[in-house]
Amino acid sequence: MHAIVAGNWKMHETARDGGQLAHDIRALLDDAWLRNVTVVVAPPFTALGAVGNALAGSGVALGAQNMHWEDAGAFTGEIAPPMLVELGVHYVILGHSERRRYFGESDDDVRRKVHAALEHGLRPIIAVGETEAQRDAGETDACVTRQTRAALDGVERDRLESIAIAYEPVWAIGTGRNCELQEADRVMSLIKGSTSGLEDVPVLYGGSANPSNFAAYLALQSCRGGLIGGASLDAQTFATMVRLGAEARA
Ligand code: PGA
Repeated sequence: MHAIVAGNWKMHETARDGGQLAHDIRALLDDAWLRNVTVVVAPPFTALGAVGNALAGSGVALGAQNMHWEDAGAFTGEIAPPMLVELGVHYVILGHSERRRYFGESDDDVRRKVHAALEHGLRPIIAVGETEAQRDAGETDACVTRQTRAALDGVERDRLESIAIAYEPVWAIGTGRNCELQEADRVMSLIKGSTSGLEDVPVLYGGSANPSNFAAYLALQSCRGGLIGGASLDAQTFATMVRLGAEARA
């Protein structure tokens, strides 16, 4: 089964700069790698068009970082699933901890978004993970189990194959403090066991993943790839991580 290496650009890159970055990434990817790895690039909404153009025909999939659950309506500032579909988006990151933390996204919001994505043929990459305080309080397992179950509540079993889950410990995101391997493996296995039918769903690791530590995560039984933030903003670094993903599955 393919590895998945997804770049989450967060609020970085204008349309012009993002188009250039996508062009540079494309130039560094070897077609042979793409036989073993699914590559997703998730720029800000405003760069989706330019990045989509730069990646057209490359085999690299376009992703969004968020969306609303309604098809249209009076929701100032929001973006609807059909708007993403029209731009050629195939993946959407949902429930990222920055959405939960800074924009008040609840488990129920994430659940609605997951359902909407599936309705529109978008593949959700659902992010779950505990904060540092939750970890210190011994609440990691309860947190990721609750977030996973809530996000998938009501999702029919035959639709789970469109989903990926990213385990991103909040304290590891953008901090350079990546999660210990054994703990990551334990929690990712717990996620797979938290809901029936999830056994074959890809679980990705995210949180200060970089070219030096990524191969070790990919070697874990529970890990099928990565959701990469900071390290996805440099073409060479990201391409190296895609290669590692391909090698892990070769
Ligand atoms: P990071 O971010 O790789 O910069 O830690 C990962 C993410 O938030 O998806």
